[in-house]
Amino acid sequence: MDNEQRKILVLTGASRGIGHATVKRFSSAGWRVITCSRHAFPEDCPWEAGPEDHMQIDLADVESLTHQVEVLRKKLKGAGLNALVNNAAVSPKAFSGKRLDSISTEMADWRHVFQVNFFGPIMLARGLFKELKKIHGTVVNVTSIAGGRVHPFAGTAYATSKAALASLTREMASDFGPHGIRVNAIAPGEIKTSILSPNTEKKLVPEIPMRRLGTPEEVAKTIYFLCSEQSSYVNGAEIHINGGQHA
Ligand SMILES: NC(=O)c1ccc[n+]([C@@H]2O[C@H](COP(=O)([O-])OP(=O)(O)OC[C@H]3O[C@@H](n4cnc5c(N)ncnc54)[C@H](OP(=O)(O)O)[C@@H]3O)[C@@H](O)[C@H]2O)c1
Repeated sequence: MDNEQRKILVLTGASRGIGHATVKRFSSAGWRVITCSRHAFPEDCPWEAGPEDHMQIDLADVESLTHQVEVLRKKLKGAGLNALVNNAAVSPKAFSGKRLDSISTEMADWRHVFQVNFFGPIMLARGLFKELKKIHGTVVNVTSIAGGRVHPFAGTAYATSKAALASLTREMASDFGPHGIRVNAIAPGEIKTSILSPNTEKKLVPEIPMRRLGTPEEVAKTIYFLCSEQSSYVNGAEIHINGGQHA
């Protein structure tokens, strides 16, 4: 299929973990995936999208991000955008590996986390609004189980940025909905990626009703569902992908 006929996804944080599985899920369904992350396109990359569809974007750099959104729009050449998935995020720990709580988190770190995890997604969604509106596209924000509870490992800045992103999802669903754009969130629980703390498997798995970690592929399947016709009346929802970890 040539690029003109393919559905297009813009995905942040594609280089590993959930983002990587998401590229594979959408690519295998024939989508063109424009990936964004801080690192350059990996030459040993397993998916077929070439380096021309990868953008080196640092969501923490406001000025550069503003510019890169315009570069992204030029890349789309007036085509509509079917989906934007705001997946990239950071979850910093203290140097000692300890959880950063609301007393110990430096304000600069707090701002950094909010820029990447919260302001980045809204800057991208607003920047790509015209392209999304053109073909009634959809936005998926990746929140977290930590947005709704005090998590033993995820820090306060991360947790509050994800709670804000969940709230933003409802607001955006209300604002973007009348323009034909659906906006939803997925809230992963403990998924086997490099963002997890080393103790997760030992400490948290016994508390998960399904007694195992989730896989990035299981998350990617739900993101795909939210970007497909199968979810055509789902708007402003946050789908929990956590093996039943609600206690
Ligand atoms: N794994 C879990 O258990 C879990 C649980 C709850 C929520 N989540 C959420 O799921 C999403 C994906 O998590 P993951 O576990 O797959 O994380 P991960 O393996 O740490 O990957 C994070 C991705 O974000 C990108 N990224 C980080 N900082 C960035 C920046 N400043 N600008 C642009 N890209 C940046 C990274 O690429 P570069 O390093 O190349 O920039 C990488 O591709 C995140 O939103 C996370 O909060 C994960």
